[in-house]
Amino acid sequence: MLKIGSLILESNVILGPMAGVTDLPFRLVCKDFGCGMVCSEMISSRALHYEDRKTYKLLETDEKESPLSVQIFGSEPELMAQAAEKIESMNIASVIDINMGCPAPKIVNNNDGSALMKDIKLSEKIITAVRNATKLPVTVKFRKGWEVSSENYLDFGIMCEASGADAVTLHGRTRTQYYSGKADWEAIKKLKDKLSIPVIGNGDIFKFEDIQTMIDKTGVDGVMIARGSLGNPFIFSGITPDRKTLITTALKHLELMVNVKGEHIGMLEARKHMAWYVKGMHGAARIKDLINSISEYDKMKNLMTSLLEEKYEY
Ligand SMILES: Cc1cc2nc3c(=O)[nH]c(=O)nc-3n(C[C@H](O)[C@H](O)[C@H](O)COP(=O)(O)O)c2cc1C
Repeated sequence: MLKIGSLILESNVILGPMAGVTDLPFRLVCKDFGCGMVCSEMISSRALHYEDRKTYKLLETDEKESPLSVQIFGSEPELMAQAAEKIESMNIASVIDINMGCPAPKIVNNNDGSALMKDIKLSEKIITAVRNATKLPVTVKFRKGWEVSSENYLDFGIMCEASGADAVTLHGRTRTQYYSGKADWEAIKKLKDKLSIPVIGNGDIFKFEDIQTMIDKTGVDGVMIARGSLGNPFIFSGITPDRKTLITTALKHLELMVNVKGEHIGMLEARKHMAWYVKGMHGAARIKDLINSISEYDKMKNLMTSLLEEKYEY
């Protein structure tokens, strides 16, 4: 159980936001395996301001996935507040999450994402503006700091709490580390010890047992899993899938992709997911080549179904 503002989550294990990955189909699959809350892909506050059609597509939801946290990014307090207001008025989100951790150059070069950790005053204005714009619980996701020499996650977390955030998520790496090295769970513990609002720990949970290990080592109120869920939504349930469960889940995911996105886009975007499901399987390299050559639903479905029977020698 995890309480974020007025929202109560039945499970404190959350699917982390991943651009290009945590779309509606994948979120529904993770939800099926007991994930406590799912997060959208990051949504540009500027794009929402300009009523960008593609951005609205990213906000497609289904009540079956509730509770949904919608993550927004940007660095203009007014536009961030406006985005939160719009999302609340659409009645799709249970939480508004503010992205202050993304390390990608195209994001930080606009002063968004983890670049905001270098400007704590501006970050404070953004969080306060979002807080004042919505009644929904507001959360902030950030890293340890911009670089090792300027780690400021403790001051940053204190600022988030003082600005009215209902919970924070810390990914235990700096921006310059990207995804290299190991996530620093000691830093997560230090932040947990400092704050009164719930702290969600994030970084390097790759198997079900790691969830409890992180909770034991850091005392966090909840954990967030991102990469560990790729082709592995089972991580939220603790089951080790047999081949039938694995392939049946992939097929269900595939069907959701075609239903939500249509055949063309659905199959192009399904390729990476299908490849993640078959990772580690006998002949995976050859199967991946086949997956990447397919653009039709029927063909992809046939290929994945054939793997049920282990009859194919790839
Ligand atoms: C493909 C990919 C896309 C991501 N997109 C986002 C994003 O849109 N917003 C965000 O806050 N973090 C994003 N992240 C970071 C993850 O949410 C998470 O913080 C990070 O991967 C560390 O957690 P993990 O070790 O469980 O993967 C992304 C990560 C990956 C691998």
